[in-house]
Amino acid sequence: MSSSVSHPTPRHVAVIMDGNGRWATARSLPRIAGHREGAKAVRRIIEAAIDQGVGYLTLFAFSSENWQRPAEEVTDLTFLLKHYLRSELNELHERGVRLRVIGERERFGPNLAEELETAEAKTAGNTKLTLVMALSYGGRADIVGAARRAMQAGVKPEELTEQVFAGFLSTAGIPDPDLLIRTSGEERISNFLLWQIAYAEIVFTPVLWPDFGAKDFGEALNEYAKRERRFGARPV
Ligand code: FPP
Repeated sequence: MSSSVSHPTPRHVAVIMDGNGRWATARSLPRIAGHREGAKAVRRIIEAAIDQGVGYLTLFAFSSENWQRPAEEVTDLTFLLKHYLRSELNELHERGVRLRVIGERERFGPNLAEELETAEAKTAGNTKLTLVMALSYGGRADIVGAARRAMQAGVKPEELTEQVFAGFLSTAGIPDPDLLIRTSGEERISNFLLWQIAYAEIVFTPVLWPDFGAKDFGEALNEYAKRERRFGARPV
């Protein structure tokens, strides 16, 4: 007998959607064209996740570091997010998607922050797929925020277990990702869900995000299914 745990389908898939800029540059297009095409890939992957029976999909749509990009690109990305939310929300809702946003949404301004909140409230009862959008998200900030909130809640040092701490993270109530995918050939975590990916399987693919489709998603899931997860325990 072995202590390994095998799940053919990951319950939670997290994705670092990388390569939009390179996709655009390779076509002599402005970077925003790559982001727009990336938004189409977001649609495809939500669909694929639902089809494959994945329960939670977390997408790294905007990192804390992305604010340092040229103002024009930040404006374009913010506009795209707003547009995406407005044009897709009803369909997402009809498809049974529950939206949850993690990260410093208030940095996008009160209007978008409020729209995100409304979207979360509207879809809160849906159960088909939980779509976690990481917006102005940073893993270290998430951990520091959790520490602050635990202190503010008056948690005593001896009461602070990993489980208690996880309840103060932005992802409270969401199971940890089983599989993390990063596209575009880069092999880094880039301050994504640092705490939450402790035991995630990681799949790096050279495919640029705008080219990423259901087939690539299926291949990553197949790769995951082949791996033996031991959560640090040795086979007996
Ligand atoms: C990385 O590509 C991607 C981003 C910084 C943003 C991700 C945004 C999208 C997929 C589109 C909008 C999302 C939604 C939810 C509508 P990059 O620009 O870093 O690419 P590069 O490394 O090739 O320059």
